[in-house]
Amino acid sequence: MVIINSVKELKDKVSALKRENKTVGLVPTMGALHAGHASLVSRSVEENDTTVVSVFVNPTQFNDKNDLAAYPRTIEADCALLNSIGADYVFAPSVEEVYPDPDTRTFSYPPTDTVMEGAFRPGHFNGVCQIVSKLFMFVEPDRAYFGEKDFQQIAVIKAMVADYASQNAPWAQHLDIRPCPIMREADGLALSSRNTLLAPNERAIAPNIYKALQASLAYSKTHTVEETKQHTIAAINATQGLEVQYYDIVNALTLESVTSWDDADHIQGCITVFCGATPIRLIDNINYK
Ligand code: PAF
Repeated sequence: MVIINSVKELKDKVSALKRENKTVGLVPTMGALHAGHASLVSRSVEENDTTVVSVFVNPTQFNDKNDLAAYPRTIEADCALLNSIGADYVFAPSVEEVYPDPDTRTFSYPPTDTVMEGAFRPGHFNGVCQIVSKLFMFVEPDRAYFGEKDFQQIAVIKAMVADYASQNAPWAQHLDIRPCPIMREADGLALSSRNTLLAPNERAIAPNIYKALQASLAYSKTHTVEETKQHTIAAINATQGLEVQYYDIVNALTLESVTSWDDADHIQGCITVFCGATPIRLIDNINYK
């Protein structure tokens, strides 16, 4: 496995691979890797000749400076894990390397980037589009892998790629975005780099989020969307130390709220919960149909 810090070196490597007709899979990450990331990388290794993993804590997607400062950074452990599961290249640039000049591009794909996380974290998805589009331009991957824990992020990135494809960007023409299932701890907590920030008492109550989501599946069979939403929020808020920021039940493709179970063919429940005194912001989601 080769570790690359410069954009030029990355582009040169990828061009050489393309000349040899090798397929390239990209797994964008912010590091602090866990088994969820490992599942994305393993899938890319299976499906492509070469796998590039980027490890970059992207400042432009953090709307909260404290959140950026607290974000876990574990590059040595990350590289050891990536090496053990067959990644070929790790791209671990500095902020100056990625943003030699401030990125002033703006992206707008309503409603995917305005609802839920878009409403509560202003500018977050703009930063995600800035970094992910840069990575796509640097690597021009055949396939890119994203975890479904960030369900909304995948919808925004698909909209961004479709937008670039419609403007004839060569890298966007055949790029396949591959969503990968959420990985969970044995007690149901969705794997997240932020879980390492949970104090033991917070870690103990965090699985109640997924418990409530799962229980809501059965509840939804005999109740309306609004009743299911309120019931799920109340079930989570009943645990001292957990506070729901929002729970929305949406069309899984457009991310628009649904009011009836017949409103869409695919329906997802997306939640954000504050856990503990700090608090740590945890997200999760579940498929209703
Ligand atoms: O999902 C993440 O970890 C980040 O948002 C991503 C896609 C790596 C962009 O920084």
